[in-house]
Amino acid sequence: MKILVAGGAGYIGSVVTEELVKDGHNVVVYDSLYKGHRGAVVRGATFIHGDLLERAKLSAALREHNIEAVIHLAADSLVGESVQNPAKYYHNNVFAGLALLDAMRECKVRRIVFSSTAATYGEPEKQPLEERDPTAPTNPYGETKLAFERALHWYEEAYGIHYAALRYFNAAGATTHCGEHHNPETHLIPILLQAASGQRPQVEIYGDDYPTRDGTCVRDYIHVVDLARAHILALDILNARSAIYNLGCGGEGYTVKEVIAAAQHVTGREIPVRVGARRSGDPAVLIASSDKIKRELGWSPQKQDLHEIIASAWQWMQQHPHGYADEK
Ligand code: UFG
Repeated sequence: MKILVAGGAGYIGSVVTEELVKDGHNVVVYDSLYKGHRGAVVRGATFIHGDLLERAKLSAALREHNIEAVIHLAADSLVGESVQNPAKYYHNNVFAGLALLDAMRECKVRRIVFSSTAATYGEPEKQPLEERDPTAPTNPYGETKLAFERALHWYEEAYGIHYAALRYFNAAGATTHCGEHHNPETHLIPILLQAASGQRPQVEIYGDDYPTRDGTCVRDYIHVVDLARAHILALDILNARSAIYNLGCGGEGYTVKEVIAAAQHVTGREIPVRVGARRSGDPAVLIASSDKIKRELGWSPQKQDLHEIIASAWQWMQQHPHGYADEK
């Protein structure tokens, strides 16, 4: 297929692109490089440096490359920042996203896989979370992702654009070529690995008074390649229908302290930690039921072991100590 990956120079987008190219698809990466990295654009993909709001450029990309499907991962994704600056999230995650949908309408591209999030659920009433559970986001990040999901629903009704909205839980890990490089970094695993490699003095645990097995938050970590493979499976349904799928490994998840222990084990280094206050907006437990995507698309995660996930991120970090900063 001919696929445009919006945000294909970002962490998850680069791995999705890598898997698509491996499978023999023709991929156009469309990225403003506002967060993404030129060095993360996978060899074998065509790169277009553009913003979703540059309508003429975007439409030309869709038309000239005969794009049949779009995978949309071009968005802001920091919960805390979204509370401080909701305008940015409505602008980038809703307004610019709608511009992409309108360009797709104009160019008659009727398939889209959308990068959504567990943050659409808000504070969960039960675990594990299923797709039919109530959505009540507690921050503008989750709210804007849900708003875009709702837009997809109505665009399907009116314009026949089929969509798959994939609600990611905690993406982690790396491939040989592609890894996680954010500035600032806020995610637990890369922060731990930065501390293990001496790039930061210590790691703060955001609260140890949660009602969990050791008092720290429980999350459902999923290897980024397993996440990427789900995008490719989801493309297959888009001829006929739309769907929303959770993506996590399920089970018991891992507490922050368990992740720290695993990171120390994998790196063989002591990681200095201190317990700090809770981070606002963190639910105590977020675990996915991914039964729906397993049942309907035959997806199953191949790398469920946390040590294996962390080891892949550690290997990438050792080979790219400054992330993509040294690559042009
Ligand atoms: N944590 C720490 N110290 C840190 C960083 C994180 O204790 O320095 C904790 C967090 O409080 C949380 C866990 O580690 O309990 C994981 O935090 P991350 O920031 O790595 O990931 P989140 O669970 O906050 O974020 C994920 C996705 C978001 C999504 C969110 C839903 O990355 O896109 O889940 O709540 F919005």
